[in-house]
Amino acid sequence: MAEAGHIWDRELVLVTGKGGVGKTSVTAALAKAAHRSGRRVLVGEVTPDTSTVSTLLGLFGQPRPAHEDPIELAPNLYGVRITPTIGHKLFLKAALKIGLLVDTAMRSAALTRFLLAAPAFPEIGTFYQLVTLLRQKRYDHLILDLPATGHAIGLISLPKTVLRVLPAGLIGDAIKEGLEVLTNPKRTAAVLVTLPESLPVTESLELCDAMRHHQVAVRSMILNRMPSEPFSPLELQALDHHLAHRPGDRLLLGTKELRRLERALEARDLFRERVPPEVERVEVPALEVRSQSAVVDHLADALAAVRIGGAP
Ligand SMILES: Nc1ncnc2c1ncn2[C@@H]1O[C@H](COP(=O)(O)OP(=O)(O)OP(=O)(O)O)[C@@H](O)[C@H]1O
Ligand SMILES: [Mg+2]
Repeated sequence: MAEAGHIWDRELVLVTGKGGVGKTSVTAALAKAAHRSGRRVLVGEVTPDTSTVSTLLGLFGQPRPAHEDPIELAPNLYGVRITPTIGHKLFLKAALKIGLLVDTAMRSAALTRFLLAAPAFPEIGTFYQLVTLLRQKRYDHLILDLPATGHAIGLISLPKTVLRVLPAGLIGDAIKEGLEVLTNPKRTAAVLVTLPESLPVTESLELCDAMRHHQVAVRSMILNRMPSEPFSPLELQALDHHLAHRPGDRLLLGTKELRRLERALEARDLFRERVPPEVERVEVPALEVRSQSAVVDHLADALAAVRIGGAP
């Protein structure tokens, strides 16, 4: 049975879903809500490289963080980027114990090319940085924006693959530790974000299965940007009937929106039927606000109000 509490009430919170569904907004919102409730929070963006600006940290005024270590965004709120290269550096630092050597090693184009191209090495880097952050035990919650579905699965399926070849040593030990956190439902929660359209909902249900297959607990699924319903079911039926018998009216203003709303309602039904009962279903309306930070603030309020397990 799910334990009562907020969506973010875990040491590690992984927010994922397909492109453009609202992962970054939800991550920022969960971090803000957790921080507002008095928690010490590290919000992180998992990304293949740091050459681009950080959308997530940009929402906190730090699109280009100056450090690889977590930076302070506000008292008790920190931000970080988690990348293969930072993880490789941390690993080499631990292995070589001499910073200068690490810098020299990382300047070697051949080595960095190898680290980024060898199978699973980028994920090992990402994972190593993640474990390093968890080991520090400085935060109540590490809330992560995992950019794409494939990435999330890559990261989550990594430990068992690597442990088969590297059961011990610096990497093996770190991976084992990370796996313990990831597969402990009291410590880790995945939050899957999706949109009210049938394909995204189906894909998120598959992602939910895949996460569970890898023993990662899915705590919540969020149906984001649900359009508002201006009509009652009866009115919808009447409108449908009217449009079916008056094909000339197809171009009526709003017909397209009506069809979109119908599709969204169908997708919502699928979402309501198929999300496993132990996963908290959350539906968030499409917000009529202009700025991205206003979206985040609204989402933070909505997600703070969700109590998993029902108890206050
Ligand atoms: N509930 C909402 N209502 C209105 N706009 C929203 C809502 N949720 C997110 N948005 C907006 O949708 C856009 C995409 O959101 P976001 O960047 O969070 O998605 P993402 O899943 O992180 O995208 P990507 O896969 O590109 O990283 C943003 O402009 C955001 O402000
Ligand atoms: Mg994003």
